[in-house]
Amino acid sequence: MSRKILVTSALPYANGSIHLGHLVEYIQTDIWARFQKMRGHSCVYCCADDTHGTPIMLRAEKEGITPEQLIDRVWHEHKRDFDGFHVDFDNYYSTHSKETRHYADTIYTRLKEAGLIEIRSIEQYYDPVKEMFLPDRFIKGECPKCHAKDQYGDNCEACGAAYQPTDLIEPYSAVSGAKPVRKSSDHHFFKLSDPRCADFLKAWIADPKHVQTEAANKLGEWLQAGLSDWDISRDAPYFGFEIPDEFGKSTGKYYYVWLDAPIGYMGSFQNYCDKNGLDFDEYWKPDSEAELYHFIGKDILYFHALFWPAELAHAGFRTPTGVFCHGFLTVNGTKMSKSRGTFITAESYLNHLNPEWLRYYYAAKLNGSMEDIDLNLEDFAARVNSDLVGKYVNIASRCAGFISKRFEGKLGASDTGATAEFFAAFAKGEIAQSYEDRDYGRALREIMRLADVANQYIAEKQPWTMAKQEGREAELHEVCSTAMTLFRDLTLYLKPVLPKLAEQVEAFLNIPPLTWTDTWTPLPAGHAIKEYQHLMTRIDPKKIDTMVEENKQSLAPTPDPAPVKHAEHQQNEAKAAAASPWEPFINIDDFTKVDLRIVRIANAEHVEGADKLLKLTLDLGGETRTVFAGIKAAYAPETLVGRLTVMVANLAPRKMKFGMSEGMVLAASDERGGPFLLSPDSGAQPGMRIK
Ligand code: 2FM
Ligand code: ZN
Repeated sequence: MSRKILVTSALPYANGSIHLGHLVEYIQTDIWARFQKMRGHSCVYCCADDTHGTPIMLRAEKEGITPEQLIDRVWHEHKRDFDGFHVDFDNYYSTHSKETRHYADTIYTRLKEAGLIEIRSIEQYYDPVKEMFLPDRFIKGECPKCHAKDQYGDNCEACGAAYQPTDLIEPYSAVSGAKPVRKSSDHHFFKLSDPRCADFLKAWIADPKHVQTEAANKLGEWLQAGLSDWDISRDAPYFGFEIPDEFGKSTGKYYYVWLDAPIGYMGSFQNYCDKNGLDFDEYWKPDSEAELYHFIGKDILYFHALFWPAELAHAGFRTPTGVFCHGFLTVNGTKMSKSRGTFITAESYLNHLNPEWLRYYYAAKLNGSMEDIDLNLEDFAARVNSDLVGKYVNIASRCAGFISKRFEGKLGASDTGATAEFFAAFAKGEIAQSYEDRDYGRALREIMRLADVANQYIAEKQPWTMAKQEGREAELHEVCSTAMTLFRDLTLYLKPVLPKLAEQVEAFLNIPPLTWTDTWTPLPAGHAIKEYQHLMTRIDPKKIDTMVEENKQSLAPTPDPAPVKHAEHQQNEAKAAAASPWEPFINIDDFTKVDLRIVRIANAEHVEGADKLLKLTLDLGGETRTVFAGIKAAYAPETLVGRLTVMVANLAPRKMKFGMSEGMVLAASDERGGPFLLSPDSGAQPGMRIK
């Protein structure tokens, strides 16, 4: 029976780049959606950028553009990255849309009619210079527990304590530096403490279809502790949708970004329906037979498995069929890190490596649980090279040439004994069940076991020996034709994970797009295939090293990944805010620690094997230093010789792949361009201190 499925991934914020951590989720969802489509089900995969909130407003302001311009630019960057990884959304939209506004208003109004919205005055920190209320992540100060300086308003990164911003010692605004004052304002609350919500949620999480057991346990603890009302409004200035009043007058209150973010799933789907003639209500009415699944990370479980179903249930919509929660990504066993070069953006990965390698590796690690997954870069190369190139592609590369050269590209009859054995192994439906359960690791183990069976068959028959012996043409034809059938079948089962490779194989085998089947017939005798073209190369570990090195050397700072959100912080409202737009304040002593000097570039040259680096010899007025600078894309070395610029002279020397780097030259850059080297005014001489 054909199912009707709507599936979503969490909406990424419109103020940051997609990185390998994000991709765990998008690749996981994409594999699942592709699998469902191959099975013949209707499956719509919707997503959007999450565009509202204070961080986005401030980021646009800092860049001197409107929030609309910012979110438009980032939308294109995100879409480019997702396309690059073959994440095939049916609709990639924006929460800043008329559809999302419509459903936000609908849900808000219905909750209000149900008596589940309450307006209360609360006191919060206010920046008197910037004239705005400060989200917790924009208030910094000394941790009340361990006294670490410059900690955020919701939790301490030094000791892990969670607290209220009002607990901070000597708080200051991370926006203007001003001392915040306490100020009252009316806020709109969704009354989660109403027994209707708790009763509904207890029953909802008790159904094992809705959430994984480990998630249900966590949710149970939260419910047990009692749900607090949820503050769903923010005061102007805010980038978002204004909350309407009954008479259409301005309220000066906006929906909090986390209120309209999941509603963005509805907005994106409505937009898809309008473009494709689907009936929105059929999917979202309370008794809908369509299935609705949200793939999310464990840091946003609270929003998706408590707030969201409670909102929907009391606003006359259906609730999710399932919330699929996954863990975080670590790289080489630890949190992604800029200094180690393991905070890798999608864009940087794509500059060096094939996206399907990562899709395969993530799939091999995913098992449908909430465990974190580790991208071990050495294991990544070894696994991909051994499984995909050594086992899978090897089947075609060893046999296809004989079909073209010796049999005019036409297949002969297959060895039915071999194919029957192979098909029997396939026919258990185990691979399909593993995909359905999101246990892609198990699916791939089974597929690789079958690739071993196919390789064993070829190894036993030795077509390369047959090819050299007179009178064994028919046997050679049969073995190679059989191998092509086995290769086709393996391709089918790998297709949700490796969609582009599967397309290449379909073209090579000259067959229509593969859809799911467990009933097989061999490719028929006489079927013409195309000439074999190389399908996939091995990962060269040097390319991984270069990528990591480049991420270390990147002069354009990318924010460190958001800190892991502990359970308490999920309930604590501020986690929607991204990293502070400015570095924390330093005092003059901190600044004078940095020894900045004017230097003359005495020589500049290319570095063999480095994509981004130039080797600079810098004259500090007597002393010379060698510095490797990531400015190759912007400057031809000969244009630099003789010019003055600025260096950090007391940066500890760093051993790099290409030699010792004894400092750093300064350059400006952001999404608008760069790097742009600094130049002093005329009169400055090499060696002069900058202060
Ligand atoms: O945590 C995040 O990155 C949010 N932007 C996810 C939103 S998911 C959904 F609710 F929109
Ligand atoms: Zn602390």
